[in-house]
Amino acid sequence: MSKAQTVSTTASDPTVAAAASQFLSPVVLGLQALTINTKQAHWHVRGANFVGVHELFDTIVAHAGDFADTAAERIVALGLPIDARVKAVAEKGAGSEVPAGFAQSSDLIRNVIADIDAILVDTKAAIDGLDEVDLTSQDVAIEIMRGLEKDRWFLVAHIAE
Ligand SMILES: [Fe+2]
Repeated sequence: MSKAQTVSTTASDPTVAAAASQFLSPVVLGLQALTINTKQAHWHVRGANFVGVHELFDTIVAHAGDFADTAAERIVALGLPIDARVKAVAEKGAGSEVPAGFAQSSDLIRNVIADIDAILVDTKAAIDGLDEVDLTSQDVAIEIMRGLEKDRWFLVAHIAE
């Protein structure tokens, strides 16, 4: 008769899980806020290159949602919860540059870039902070930074001289 085995929740130790949560949670919240505020930009953009910018904003919404999911699920895979309810996301995104109402595409592009730059600060902090703690979680942050920087380039290309 086989004996029931105890299976631990995760393969990692608590220090690793705590660090992943500490550094990846702000990234998740910033990205969730970015999905909402870039959708706002998608709906209200006017002016030059309307169709392209309108569609690019939706692409960025989709990417931000995917990045947030990857980072959140890394935390959960290590056995910890994350509070990404609306209240937490709203607090994190309170400094968004995206305005209310209709706006010109060149302005909204700058606003979304500013929001991305704020997330990049948290993402860089995660890359640095996780470097000697957990390379697997650091890899998640690196992947997000690479993706955000690419989306940032697509935005900048619309307004660069
Ligand atoms: Fe749409």
